[in-house]
Amino acid sequence: MTASPTILKLGGSVLTEKTDTPTPKPAAIGRCAREIAASITPATSTPPAGVGGPLILVHGAGSFGHPQAKEHDSPDGFTNFGIIEIHRAVTSLNDLVIEALVENGVPAAAVHPFGCMVAENGRIAEMETAQIGMMLARGIMPVLHGDVVMDRRVGASIISGDQLVTYLAVRFKAARIGLGTAVDGVLADGAAVPLITRANFESVRSYVQGSEGTDVTGGMLGKVLELLEVDIDSYIFNASKENVIAGFLSGDEPGTRITGIAGAAHE
Ligand code: IPE
Repeated sequence: MTASPTILKLGGSVLTEKTDTPTPKPAAIGRCAREIAASITPATSTPPAGVGGPLILVHGAGSFGHPQAKEHDSPDGFTNFGIIEIHRAVTSLNDLVIEALVENGVPAAAVHPFGCMVAENGRIAEMETAQIGMMLARGIMPVLHGDVVMDRRVGASIISGDQLVTYLAVRFKAARIGLGTAVDGVLADGAAVPLITRANFESVRSYVQGSEGTDVTGGMLGKVLELLEVDIDSYIFNASKENVIAGFLSGDEPGTRITGIAGAAHE
């Protein structure tokens, strides 16, 4: 059986400029790809336990999805062409990420949620994941992303990369989750809160709210709430800083650690 995967999400703010039209950050995309490539192909043939295992990569949309989703949002839901525009925008970012990974020697391939997922009221209801398991077993890196997907109740809805991360983490019994953002973690007075658990969440909630600008999928609070739902060791860290992704993938504990595990508060 394949070893437990690590799930890494790269936020849209790491990979794209915050503009109204799709604008990539090519240097950041290239750097992230190089850090991932170096971590999954360690120089030694016997990497330490838990390092160099399979990785599921998820990325956000940034300016390749949020402005389009906002523009097409209406009380009647998205129009068909609205759905297509959002999907095409985020898949074009996915192409750039995959291209950078492949150029750096990572056999990576897209798994677009639109084609293998159904939502219900904005939450994932069904997802075909057999292909992801088979890819991991062969050493192909699946690269997913936040997407617009068909929704049983509301026609179509936006599924964030964060929601996808926790869903996949449970499905594949992930060893660790990393959410790479453009800030150092969940910040309180400028410094990353080291640990958030269900026990201390209420006391740090005021810092979490509004710590990111307008975002159709919930910003930092959305991330923390998703991660508190799963009993998997998770980290929110700054993926815009060099070598933080590489450090996380080699076992470091960067930024804010979040765990829904009951009892973790006693540590
Ligand atoms: C958003 O995904 C998906 C779309 C708007 C199509 P995310 O919510 O994961 O994206 P970022 O990381 O905030 O940009």
